[in-house]
Amino acid sequence: MNYFETKGDRLFFDRVDLVELAKEYGTPLYVVSESVIKDRCAQIRSEFLNVYPGTQALYASKAFQTLDMCRLIQSEGLGLDVVSGGELFAALKAGFNPEAIVFHGNAKTVDEMDFAVRSGVGRIILDNLYDVEELEKLGGRYNKKIKVLYRITPGVDSHTHRFISTGSPDSKFGIPLEPSVYKGYIDAVLSAPHLEFRGFHFHVGSQLLDNFAHLAALKVVLGLVENFSMEYGANVQELNMGGGFGIEYVSGDKEPGLSCFLTPMMQLIRTELEGKGVPLPRVTIEPGRWIVGPAGVTLYTVGAVKEIPGVRTYVGVDGGMTDNIRPALYGARYRAVVAGRAAAVPDQLVTIAGKCCESGDILIKDIELPSPHPGDILAVFATGAYHHSMASNYNRNPRPAVVHVNQGSARLSVRRETYDDLIAREL
Ligand code: LLP
Repeated sequence: MNYFETKGDRLFFDRVDLVELAKEYGTPLYVVSESVIKDRCAQIRSEFLNVYPGTQALYASKAFQTLDMCRLIQSEGLGLDVVSGGELFAALKAGFNPEAIVFHGNAKTVDEMDFAVRSGVGRIILDNLYDVEELEKLGGRYNKKIKVLYRITPGVDSHTHRFISTGSPDSKFGIPLEPSVYKGYIDAVLSAPHLEFRGFHFHVGSQLLDNFAHLAALKVVLGLVENFSMEYGANVQELNMGGGFGIEYVSGDKEPGLSCFLTPMMQLIRTELEGKGVPLPRVTIEPGRWIVGPAGVTLYTVGAVKEIPGVRTYVGVDGGMTDNIRPALYGARYRAVVAGRAAAVPDQLVTIAGKCCESGDILIKDIELPSPHPGDILAVFATGAYHHSMASNYNRNPRPAVVHVNQGSARLSVRRETYDDLIAREL
C-alpha cells in the first residue's frame, strides 16, 4: 500500500500534509506513520506468525525506540528485542510485558544483566563465557532459573556494508564454531544450574536485499541443532533467526519482502530436521528496519543554496549527520522531494549538505530536484530506522522532535530538544 499522495503541489504522508507539519512542529522533524508500522506488523502476522504456528516475532527496538513505539509494538502482538539497560528501562516504562522481552548484547555489563534478571525478561541471549558466569551468579542470587539462548557466529559473509555485517567468522558477535572452542561454551551453559539452555540465535547482518546469507547461515545452524540432539540427547527448543530484512531506500533497491526470506527458511528447517527425526524448534524472528524504516520521513528546511560553477550546487539544510549518521557512516543513499512542490519536474542536480562542521556531513550526494530555494521543505524518505535512535548532539545541535501521523491526524510523540536540555547534565 502506498501511504504517499500528492494533492495539488503538496506531499501528504498517511493523509497528513507534510508542509503543514513542518510549519506546526518545526524542522528537522522525524515523521513516523503508525499506519505503515501497523501494516507491516499485519504482514508479519499474515505471512509468518499465522502461517507457521508456534512462531514468534520480536521488534528489534534499536531501530527506533520510543515509549510510544514500544506501546504500539505490544498492541500489535510482537515481542521486543533490547540490547542495553537503557532500552530495557524504556520498554518497561512503556509497560512492555517483560516476559516478551529478549535481552541481547556482546558486552553486557553486570549491572545490565542484573537489571534484566530482576526485571524478569523472557530470554537472555548469551554471547560469551563471561555472560554465562555472571548470569549463573545472578541466577543463584535471585534464586531464578534464567532462560538463555546462545548467539552463534555462523561464519557466513553477508553482502552488506561491513559495519552492519555480523555473521562472518571474524565478528565480535556470537560464539565461534570451531569444534574445540564451541564445545566448551556448550558444556559451560549446560552445567550451570541456574541457566536453562533453550537454543540458538543468529543474525547475519542488516539491510540484506537477498536471502543467500540467511539461508547459508541457517544451514550451518541447523547442523548444530542436529548435532546437539545427537551429542547431548536433548533437543534444541528454540531458534532465533534475527532480522536483517532489507527495504527500499532508492529506486534500484528492490525490497524482497518477508516471504522471500521466510518461506525458504521455514522450508529448509522442515526438510533438514524432519527427515532426521529432530523435533522442530520454536522459531523467532527479530526485524527492526523492515518494520519501521519505510514508516519514517525526515523533514528539513532548505537554507543556503551555493552554486560552485562547474563543480556542484550545495543545498544546505537545518539538519544533517546529527539526525542521520547513515550516509557518513555507511555511504547510505536516500530519495527526497521538495514537499511543497511534489508534482514539479526535477530540473537541477544538487547535493544536500548537512549543517555540521564536517566535510563528510553530506545527506544526499547528487540528487535531481526542482531547483530548491531557501524555505523549501525537503522530505527525505525511509528514515524510520536507525535515525532517531542513532541521533547525536554534535555541534550542540538539539535532536529533532518525533511526530506520529495516522490516517490524517498528527500527534507529537517526542518533543524537540531545547538548548537547556543540551546543558542539563552539566554541573
Ligand atoms: N537482531 C539482532 C541481534 C541485531 O543485531 C539486529 C541489528 C537486529 C535484530 C535487527 O536488524 P534489522 O532487521 O533492523 O536489520 N545501524 C545500522 C544497522 C545496525 C543493525 C544492528 N543489529 C544501520 O543504520 O544500517
